[in-house]
Amino acid sequence: MKITIFGTGYVGLVTGTCLADVGHDVLCMDVDADKIARLRDGEIPIYEPGIESMVKSNVANGRLQFTTDPAEAVAFGTLQFIAVGTPPDEDGSADLQYVLAVADTIGRHMNEYKVVVDKSTVPVGTADRVHAAVANALEARGETIDFDVCSNPEFLKEGAAIEDFTYGARIVVGTDSERVKELMRECYSPYNRLHEKLMYMDVRSAELTKYAANAMLATKISFMNEIANLAERLGADVEQVRHGIGSDPRIGYQFIYPGCGYGGSCFPKDVQALARSAADVDYQAELLNAVESVNRRQKKNLFTKLSQVFDGDLTGKTIALWGLSFKPNTDDMRDAPSRTLMEAVWNAGGRVQAFDPQAMKECRRIYGERDDLTLVADRIQAVKGADALVICTEWKDFRTVDFEWLKSNLATPVIVDGRNLYDPQTVKRAGLLYYAMGRGDSL
Ligand code: UGA
Repeated sequence: MKITIFGTGYVGLVTGTCLADVGHDVLCMDVDADKIARLRDGEIPIYEPGIESMVKSNVANGRLQFTTDPAEAVAFGTLQFIAVGTPPDEDGSADLQYVLAVADTIGRHMNEYKVVVDKSTVPVGTADRVHAAVANALEARGETIDFDVCSNPEFLKEGAAIEDFTYGARIVVGTDSERVKELMRECYSPYNRLHEKLMYMDVRSAELTKYAANAMLATKISFMNEIANLAERLGADVEQVRHGIGSDPRIGYQFIYPGCGYGGSCFPKDVQALARSAADVDYQAELLNAVESVNRRQKKNLFTKLSQVFDGDLTGKTIALWGLSFKPNTDDMRDAPSRTLMEAVWNAGGRVQAFDPQAMKECRRIYGERDDLTLVADRIQAVKGADALVICTEWKDFRTVDFEWLKSNLATPVIVDGRNLYDPQTVKRAGLLYYAMGRGDSL
């Protein structure tokens, strides 16, 4: 099957590469000529385990191609996936200019039936706007060519995107057209062998499903962070509570890890966008607003603890930081808790000495060279001469530590752990002060 993907960002590149890998002919289009040139050479603009070799092998066998030519892109696939960004507008709503620009491009160039597939995360009602944009562009040409628009949201986690694409629990397709259903079934048939994964629903329900899934997961996390904060104040251990409630299958163990707040390009943006959509239809989404504000507060929690350790004065202190990315296995620092922490430390007159297995280049890109930020080659160097250690990301490299060694290298024997990586008793036995999230030791 011939498939065009607009946008070679995270979602577009993973979708295009995976579809080529199962035998489809895929053409990825991007307006960024430099990015396309680098992709043709096998240079990958994102960090995602497994993607590089997959891109290279599918480029080599000719099934995955890249272009900057819109006419070529539109002519290529019967399915035209829109996978461009939807960054938040100033008021938190999703900015649809890139999505609508692609719709316009499709309308300008199409000469036969196409299915426009909304893959980007877009507010409910966007498919109608995409439909109108394509129709307007066709009308401007004086053409009447048949086309359909469907919604096909993605449920990929960064760091596990290929696995999620291949083995995901469901493939949601929002359409009321039998022709579209058939084409989408053909597209996804390689992933639909073990059991029926395709779920057809109306377009608006599909659009809302994407936001509802992310908002539900974000709600679980904020709920757990609230319980962690309570546990701290009530002298309980949230990790024991987590086991206690997760064992109930109605609750489940997944996405109830307390921590220093959720980050990334999805949860913060999508929860806000959904709350914004609610406000637009005169509904106050009280729960969504609370999920967001609990998260904002949680991201400040590490600094609050740190500041209490030093009686509110971080002037001249050096803070060792392990983990910059918003979660392991990615170099993505969008809305990462590490950023809230670093910025607060800098504002308080402290310095940061940081290590991350993947995100240091990204950190340098965001913050540039500055006197109060040193990026070091490994976790050991981050700790040397530091006044305290803060952990923001649960990279597996951080899971085991020689606590005796740590104590002898830190100027103040303090760990503030935003991910609850260690057994508090073991850390304390080594003579370190250990402040985790919701583990009994309130400062
Ligand atoms: C999320 C969803 O999990 C995907 O299903 C969805 O497709 C994607 O957004 C998207 O909309 O594109 P992602 O943002 O890559 O994926 O990362 P997650 O693994 O979901 O983690 C998000 C944040 O929640 C991280 O900061 C993580 O540390 C935090 N988290 C996660 C917790 O604090 N506790 C948990 O128990 C789980």
